[in-house]
Amino acid sequence: MILVYPGSFDPITNGHLDIITRAACICDKLIVAVGNNENKKPAFTVEERIDLIKASVGNREDIKVTGFTGLLADFAKREGARAVIKGLRAMSDFEYEFQMALLNKTLEPDLETLFMMTSVHYSYLSSSAVKEIARNGGNIDGLVPECIKDRIVEKLTCR
Ligand code: PNS
Repeated sequence: MILVYPGSFDPITNGHLDIITRAACICDKLIVAVGNNENKKPAFTVEERIDLIKASVGNREDIKVTGFTGLLADFAKREGARAVIKGLRAMSDFEYEFQMALLNKTLEPDLETLFMMTSVHYSYLSSSAVKEIARNGGNIDGLVPECIKDRIVEKLTCR
């Protein structure tokens, strides 16, 4: 079974990596799909975000990292995915994710949306928080994968 894990990943955090690792255990192939949320102004280009995810995930045959444009439902269908998987942190995520799940189901009735609860120690973590901390010179140790930490700090502080 193929699952699509979509998101902005601007940038990937340890919370995303936790969902990627756990989601990959329950499917044959996980497609991490990087898109642009039209309501957000990204700090990293799609190519940069893909590179950061690839560096974090490592070389795994069961995980593909790619960008997408257009509707998620169309992309998932093209890729032969059975379902979309999303991480849920708190009730505050629920309303938006619920709306997206129902819209995607309307667009593509055979496509399911599954939700995976975040691990408790990442429930507070978001890409926006990582960017705010890094831009202001704070320490992002433990919030993002160690191997990409310097690239994130460099980009956000223009060092
Ligand atoms: O979790 P995010 O960062 O809000 O997700 C961003 C993304 C790109 C996954 C999301 O905005 C998306 O699916 N965009 C594609 C357009 C689409 O299919 N929207 C849903 C129906 S309106």
